[in-house]
Amino acid sequence: MPETTGAAPGALACLPGTLRLPARVHFGHGSRALLPEVVALHGRRVFAVVDPFLATTPHITAVLDALTGAGLDVRTYTSVTPELPVGTLDSAAVQAREYGAEVVLAIGGGSALDAAKLIALLCVHEGPPERYYGENLVPGPVVPVVAVPTTAGTGSEVTPVAVVSDPGRELKVGVSSPFLVPAAAVVDPDLTLGAPRGVTAFSGIDALVHAAESYTARPLPADWSGTPPVFTGRNALTEPVALQAAGRLGPWLPVAVREPVGRHARHEVALGALLAGIAFGSTGTHLCHALQYPIGALTKTPHGLGTGLLLPYVLDALRADADVAVRVAAFGAALEHLPAEDASALRTVMRVAELNEAIGVPATLAELGIERDQLADIAELGLRSARLLAIAPLEPSRELLLDILGRAHAGILDGTDSHRKRTVV
Ligand SMILES: NC(=O)c1ccc[n+]([C@@H]2O[C@H](COP(=O)([O-])OP(=O)(O)OC[C@H]3O[C@@H](n4cnc5c(N)ncnc54)[C@H](O)[C@@H]3O)[C@@H](O)[C@H]2O)c1
Ligand SMILES: [Fe+2]
Repeated sequence: MPETTGAAPGALACLPGTLRLPARVHFGHGSRALLPEVVALHGRRVFAVVDPFLATTPHITAVLDALTGAGLDVRTYTSVTPELPVGTLDSAAVQAREYGAEVVLAIGGGSALDAAKLIALLCVHEGPPERYYGENLVPGPVVPVVAVPTTAGTGSEVTPVAVVSDPGRELKVGVSSPFLVPAAAVVDPDLTLGAPRGVTAFSGIDALVHAAESYTARPLPADWSGTPPVFTGRNALTEPVALQAAGRLGPWLPVAVREPVGRHARHEVALGALLAGIAFGSTGTHLCHALQYPIGALTKTPHGLGTGLLLPYVLDALRADADVAVRVAAFGAALEHLPAEDASALRTVMRVAELNEAIGVPATLAELGIERDQLADIAELGLRSARLLAIAPLEPSRELLLDILGRAHAGILDGTDSHRKRTVV
């Protein structure tokens, strides 16, 4: 495979852009103090969807007390279940509607934020939620959501998507609509300070995958004559944001995992995750995500563990296309703060593999207990993610998916047959 340096990515002429964002995004230590003012902009009856573990912690009770202290009426809902089974949402929406919710406040990780987005949807639009699975099927505005993440990873506070598990479906499903973009996001890195090591590592590496896939996604042709797709593929407005995200996460994610109470590292990782959310919320993601959904369903492993594990293998596969390899090299230059001439696509692959090793992401699918003879089924299920594969930078054939899975199973990087443990030094 020819090696590619980090020289400026070519073929950028006339790349169009789309960016959908909350009307307000506040970021920084202590920014949660703004919440009474930001929430009150949208109404006085607040339905607060709060992660059950966090609901009784001092930071979060102080946030809720500040809202009531400011004269807002707050109803707290804490029955958020990991993986967000869809069956729980209808009854939550009934509660919110009966309460007369004017604004939905979401506090927690991606699960709580996604729950809040769907409750806000079902408050206004008739269920069941499956009516809205897919893209652009939400008919109009939902109850305004103010999103406050306590993990640094999913970017759900700024994205147009919410992901649920549905017992009737083999894979998790998404509702994607510009109407699901929260009205406001308040991202206070101090709220991530208590997050356990695994949550920090897996949500943080997922953010890096969001940035990498956003930056390498195939741009969809712009057609301004109809409703644009929710996810556009790589676009001119998100490219610099994705690189900024990589520059925050590369140096600081291992520090945040190693030193969970370090405020500076938490700041940088929360900023990286937010920037990655801003980028992929408009572009979408591709191969790592398409393959993680079946792997997550099979192994019950966290979303970010799977996407992070796959990232070096997907980037390695992308080196096969010279134009995409240039982008992989440029992404690595941003990740390591390197001059372009010192970067290369192969170096990016190896750096991401090292990063995974440093934060405890398993190196191979075999370590997750997946057998080699299960790879064909995983590839088949991965092929069903048509929306994700539509912006994959390489032709997303069954063969490509099987090749990536085979290498990720055996730990083979670098286009050689050397095992990952020997390749990465
Ligand atoms: N909507 C999107 O754009 C988007 C993007 C990626 C992933 N997701 C979804 O997000 C979900 C994963 O979200 P997540 O990784 O943020 O985890 P999560 O919300 O599922 O939370 C994981 C665990 O961390 C705990 N936790 C959260 N914050 C904490 C804190 N500050 N201190 C201590 N514990 C804390 C929670 O109680 C929970 O036990 C998945 O369902 C995934 O599909 C959504
Ligand atoms: Fe993700």
